[in-house]
Amino acid sequence: MEYCPTSLLWLGLLLPALLVFVLSRQKRTNLPPQPPAWPVIGNILDLGTMPHQNLHSFRAEHGPVTWLKLGSVNTMVIQSARAAAELFKGHDLTFADRKCPHAFTALGYDQGSLAVGRYGGYWRVLRRLCSAELLMNKRVNEMAHLRQKCVDSMIMHIEEEMAVKQATTEQGIDLSQFLFLLAFNVVGNMVLSRDLLDPKSKDGPEFFDAMNRFMEWAGKPNVADFMPVLKWWDPQGIKASMAKDMGRAMKIAEGFVKERLEERKTGEIRATNDFLDAVLDYEGDGKEGHHKISSQNVNIIVLEMFLAGSETTSSTIEWAMAELLRHPESMKKAKDEIDEVVGLNRKLEENDTEKMPFLQAVVKETLRLHPPLPLLLPRNALKDTNFMGFDIPKDAQVFVNAWGIGRDPDAWEDPLAFKPERFLGSKIDYKGQNFELIPFGSGRRMCVGLSLAHRVLHLGLATLLHHFDWELGSGLTPATLDMSERVGITLRKLHPLKVIPKKHGV
Ligand code: HEM
Repeated sequence: MEYCPTSLLWLGLLLPALLVFVLSRQKRTNLPPQPPAWPVIGNILDLGTMPHQNLHSFRAEHGPVTWLKLGSVNTMVIQSARAAAELFKGHDLTFADRKCPHAFTALGYDQGSLAVGRYGGYWRVLRRLCSAELLMNKRVNEMAHLRQKCVDSMIMHIEEEMAVKQATTEQGIDLSQFLFLLAFNVVGNMVLSRDLLDPKSKDGPEFFDAMNRFMEWAGKPNVADFMPVLKWWDPQGIKASMAKDMGRAMKIAEGFVKERLEERKTGEIRATNDFLDAVLDYEGDGKEGHHKISSQNVNIIVLEMFLAGSETTSSTIEWAMAELLRHPESMKKAKDEIDEVVGLNRKLEENDTEKMPFLQAVVKETLRLHPPLPLLLPRNALKDTNFMGFDIPKDAQVFVNAWGIGRDPDAWEDPLAFKPERFLGSKIDYKGQNFELIPFGSGRRMCVGLSLAHRVLHLGLATLLHHFDWELGSGLTPATLDMSERVGITLRKLHPLKVIPKKHGV
């Protein structure tokens, strides 16, 4: 019998692969159900370009808790409201740590960050500080005039754009750009008391550009997250590119902070203290629970507010407008309610939105179907633990599929339909207690910007509906409007919404 060298080579390659495959299946006896995995890459291919959608499709076959091997990274995916309740109520502390994406280790960002920082004493200090500024109703209410100013300026810019375009095109305007500027401006005013988008602002446009690039890198899938042995190599160059653009943004932020320190030295007084003042006022003594915040980390926390607060908020309002334009009967109900509360002769104010149950229902329904962070932010198991009968090892990564849970047929009737009415007379809210609706997460690591986001979403959307009547641009109709998604740092509309505004109220 003759031996063919090529067959021997194949055998030599296949045998070890088969062995790894068999062993990996044997070892996972008490792990949650796992789809079949390839050697080395494991289930990476199962994620595809739309991980939240593909993971959701495993729910029927594999149940509410799915196990994946992403390269060498153990990953648990929570896919139902009941499993989410178990995670956040029963095991919140065990999963209060984060798995930090490799790109965010550039320039030591992870060391100063609240959102991707490890669970521990320093995180607690930042969390306390940020909660006092962003989550406490009293503090957020004090800043209502700033949000109003930013919304007014968005309306003005839309009107200016229409004045230029109207005669030439029926394509409409790209609403997403105006919404992003609104959200960015709100953060700039809250954090730094600056209108960064004011044409007179010298550093504003440069900062905006650097932050935009920084966010783009942050949203790119990175092989080094699945194969930690490749981190030193940074195969796609994502960390290096991130370091460049983050460095640019950080330099400008540093300039803002230095300017503020000078002002404080000369005793210049502003009407109200802002977020940066609160961070600078904090004096840790370096002991447990009172960690000092280095000047580099002050810059990082400033950047983080823009990163966490801009696209999340703006993409939600864009999805809400798209859903309303697809559902003219809901659009009419929302506009009628606004006209009834405000009328046509005065400007809408933030407090008015508290008297608008249908508008509130539209925001909830939008966040149910289009959570901007569909898998929340990845958590990390702090220790070996038994979760719902499964043995989850320390350092397993955890995704919570908020997008899939919003479509869970066990929790929602007619889950794929946009029906704001389902929330009228219902107590279900997104504040982290109703696990079928968790676009802001839940537990210790829940979104710290929830109160701020809640207000900007309602004020922004209601003002757009009060000030203008809206039609679809580009010859689109409610039936032909494309609702495809695009995954980046947030889940956005693939095709930005093109709309034609016509003046309605004041
Ligand atoms: C529609 C708007 C927003 C949505 C849907 C959203 C969603 C989220 C989610 C899902 C998380 C992770 C929660 C978890 O792990 O359980 C998070 C964390 C966070 N969010 Fe938001 N967010 C929004 C707006 C904002 C705003 C306006 C800010 C601040 C200006 C902000 C700051 C943060 C920060 C700092 C964290 C990290 C908290 C921690 O790890 O302790 N977010 N957000």
